[in-house]
Amino acid sequence: MALTFICPDRDTGPWIKALNELDPALEIRVWPNDHPRSKIEMALTWAHPPGVLKEYPNLGCICSMGAGIDLLLTDPLLPNPDLPGNPAIVRLIDQKLVRDMSEYLLLAVLHHFRQFDFYQARKEQKDWHPLGPLEKKENIIGIMGLGQLGKAAAKSLQAAGFTVCGWRNSQIKIDKIPSFHGRDQLEGFLSRTRILICLLPLTCQTRHILNRDTFSKLPQGAYLINVGRGDHLEETDLLAALDQGHLSGACLDVFQSEPLPKDHPIWQHPKILVTPHISSQTNPRSVAPQILSNLKRLRTGKALLNRVDIKKEY
Ligand code: GLV
Repeated sequence: MALTFICPDRDTGPWIKALNELDPALEIRVWPNDHPRSKIEMALTWAHPPGVLKEYPNLGCICSMGAGIDLLLTDPLLPNPDLPGNPAIVRLIDQKLVRDMSEYLLLAVLHHFRQFDFYQARKEQKDWHPLGPLEKKENIIGIMGLGQLGKAAAKSLQAAGFTVCGWRNSQIKIDKIPSFHGRDQLEGFLSRTRILICLLPLTCQTRHILNRDTFSKLPQGAYLINVGRGDHLEETDLLAALDQGHLSGACLDVFQSEPLPKDHPIWQHPKILVTPHISSQTNPRSVAPQILSNLKRLRTGKALLNRVDIKKEY
């Protein structure tokens, strides 16, 4: 039995190397190379061609090569994991991914809070222009999405002295982090948030949640950091909110279209910091033990790690 990668746009080399370092006997195939589909028990996927998973009659597990599963869900022929006999769906998330995200967010928050963009612009004019110190307590950070990534980011921002609150779909109690939930509490959450971070999974409920209406509930001068998915954001609404001066700036790591097209206005916008979807990248060496552990669990009938709830879409 073997494992296959189905990820047309990604380099599988580092993944295969990391897995074979831990298990040299593991048989690994790469779609679409010729291989007996009936021998495959686990598929690692990223942007797989719709319908292709149906070719594998003995698949026990489909594993997203990242923490998000939204790309998997775009396949209308994705086998429903809740139906008997169909493969389970899992995702990859580990301490390194969680730590890297917290680090990126701390950096993005501090870059804004310590006004580095202002000084960078002054440098061009050789203008020595110190601004007064700001109050961390007044710059409340609101995190949308309080899963593993969101909770860890909240704790690291708190440890840096910021006041943090959170919002998610359903109720959750997290020690020392005031948490809002559901659409009814969204306005209360937004009205106190000066730095809004989106770490939500992309679902039918959250698509385009960062829109004109949402921005209008944020206080004047609020700042946006989007590390969720490009489709959380109505990009034209963001550009309008920045140009009207309601939002003071944004740091974007994800975009509706990636790579961000060269003629996109976001590239030129002076108030937007752009990074190319690198806030937290799955590291093959770091997640290889998790993949092998799930393969073992699959073979021995044990519960799989990081199983996805298809009804919740994450
Ligand atoms: C990256 O975006 C991921 O889903 O891990």
